[in-house]
Amino acid sequence: MKILITAGPTREFLDPVRFLSNRSTGKMGFAVATAAAEAGHSVTLVAGPVQLDTPNGVRRLDVVSALEMLDTVQRELPAHDALVMTAAVADWRPKRTAAEKLKKRDMSAVLELEPNPDILKTLLPQKGDRIFVGFAAETGDPLAEASRKLAAKGLDLMVANDVSRPDAGFEVDTNLVTLLMPDNSPVPLPLLNKLEVGRIIVDWLERKKGRTDKA
Ligand code: PMT
Repeated sequence: MKILITAGPTREFLDPVRFLSNRSTGKMGFAVATAAAEAGHSVTLVAGPVQLDTPNGVRRLDVVSALEMLDTVQRELPAHDALVMTAAVADWRPKRTAAEKLKKRDMSAVLELEPNPDILKTLLPQKGDRIFVGFAAETGDPLAEASRKLAAKGLDLMVANDVSRPDAGFEVDTNLVTLLMPDNSPVPLPLLNKLEVGRIIVDWLERKKGRTDKA
């Protein structure tokens, strides 16, 4: 299978030195890429700014902003069978990016934001029989919000992680996820290393692709 994976945060620059971003390290996405390459798949990894080595056998494309991630994923999608979006894409970007470093007194005047496009929703018309997997980093009631996003983004699978726990979600090597199918049936997994979560997702992709090919 040819699998396109996104990982890490995006950066939305206010000026040459300041940006809006989030706590994503890319570990979850790199783990999915590692698992997919280990299983013999052809993997393209679109990575936001992260401090991680490229997994063996993986083709890596680096991006910075949400708009660059959208452009790259849109260009690469036609050559792939599945898209796994683990990236924590910034929902907003500054309306203007100053060419010169902003003075302290100008900061409040420039913090005007506009929404970034939703990458999954933008690519939905190009989905065809490709498999789309999303991730949802939630606090409170992770399943309710993940289920809403699963439907809104037209996904085949949503991986809901409870980021209120110190051993799950952002930055750490482990994750606690529930796999959510379009019929909303939840498959809760125990606390696992991110590589083990990646292997389970790759295994799910292989079985889903097998069913799609037979249909
Ligand atoms: O990188 P780590 O430190 O290992 O952390 C892993 C993680 C917590 C970032 C990861 O497991 C995770 O949960 N990623 C999704 C983060 C998130 O909050 O996504 P979201 O709820 O904003 O978006 C839902 C889905 O839509 C995601 O698949 C996202 O990639 C996608 N999306 C979001 C915004 C946007 N503009 N376009 C998108 O396609």
